[in-house]
Amino acid sequence: MGYRPSADLHNANGLVRAPSVVRGGVLPWKIRPHLSTSIVLVMRCAFITGITGQDGSYLAELLLQKGYKVHGLVRRTSAMVTLRIGHLLAHPELHIHYGDITDGQHLMRLVLETEPDEIYNLAAQSHVRLSFDLPVYTTQTVSGGALFVLEAARMLQRSKEVRVYQASSSEMFGNIDEWPQTEVTRFAPQSPYACAKVHAFHQTVNYRDAFGLFAANGILFNHESPRRGAEFVTRKITLAAARIQRGEQEKLYLGNLDAARDWGYAGDYVNAMWRILQHDEPTDFVIATGVSHTVRDFLDETFRHFNSLEWQDVVETDSKLIRPTEVHHLVGDSSKAADLLGWKPQVDFEGLVKLMVEHDTGIGVER
Ligand code: NAP
Ligand code: GDD
Repeated sequence: MGYRPSADLHNANGLVRAPSVVRGGVLPWKIRPHLSTSIVLVMRCAFITGITGQDGSYLAELLLQKGYKVHGLVRRTSAMVTLRIGHLLAHPELHIHYGDITDGQHLMRLVLETEPDEIYNLAAQSHVRLSFDLPVYTTQTVSGGALFVLEAARMLQRSKEVRVYQASSSEMFGNIDEWPQTEVTRFAPQSPYACAKVHAFHQTVNYRDAFGLFAANGILFNHESPRRGAEFVTRKITLAAARIQRGEQEKLYLGNLDAARDWGYAGDYVNAMWRILQHDEPTDFVIATGVSHTVRDFLDETFRHFNSLEWQDVVETDSKLIRPTEVHHLVGDSSKAADLLGWKPQVDFEGLVKLMVEHDTGIGVER
């Protein structure tokens, strides 16, 4: 059947699809005719790969709040990986499925069995520095994984409409000579991770054009939170500052302090993901704050919260943390998302650092 770019609410089975956004709000239910006289309400259903990650955990929370049934793909490991979604595990509408994004056959079976209305493909080996050490595995998860998701959605759309969100990245722009970056800025990837994301981006566009799939890319700039992995620079800094103050750590080893990123809050960005799939037409969006800061700025802002500490006294450079090819300066223009989705970030740079510092020093409440 495939996506039809119109207000057509009837699908090939004669079922009625309710408009997903109503007067600025959302209908978590699909309305289906039943026995020609009455209607039944069917709960909307989402499938999230990467549900245990930073974004997956916030997105699962958001969708459950909106009344969705949520299916999540979780890797089987010998240690607990469900830390970020621990508080959601008892929710009656959250369903966990073991699996790996590199196992396409299993993914296909899960998608066909769970019949989601929306698929959010967030699973990835997402660490850029590590992708230089693990280029093949990174490509298998980022690029191969995206292709498996698109194939599964293509199969599912034979029987029902399905929408796919692909987690694309500002890393794809690399060191392009154009600021701010928009939806039409050229890609110039600088790492195995970014190369794989570019491939996944184009596959997503091609499944939309070739197979009529409702598939859309969110080109998200860096977004952080108290749930950010400890090996990404922002969380590494806020965690270290808190530990140094408590006397649990002496030094903080970092790489390039001059790199500039457009840092936003992950809670705001998962809201954009959801809005992208509620839009009338599948299209790609840059999601960013429009403001860029260096790693040095992030250190300044973090240590402002610690009166007795100066970061210059504790930070040392470790050449192992310098990347073979670095992305120097990213800043995004998300006016398309503001115009078409009504999306704007709510948390600014100072607010983000405060949130993370308060969490890591134990005085804040997690958001
Ligand atoms: P993250 O915290 O690293 O989470 C990645 C998720 O993918 C985790 O749930 C991880 O599972 C899962 N995963 C990794 N390899 C897998 C595999 N082989 N099979 C199944 N699941 C696997 O990343 P994030 O920050 O939430 O980012 C979410 C997505 O957005 C990623 O695709 C990332 O590349 C992309 N993105 C992120 C940003 C950002 O600034 N955060 C910006 C642009 C794009 P485990 O918990 O088991 O490791
Ligand atoms: N991780 C890390 N560790 N980065 C450091 C360090 C360090 O000790 N010292 C300096 N940096 C610099 C990196 O060289 C980079 O320029 C910048 O800090 C940000 O690094 P990360 O926090 O690792 O994020 P990233 O920009 O490489 O990638 C993140 O954002 C992308 C979106 O642009 C990841 O979340 C990717 O998955 C995401 O696609």
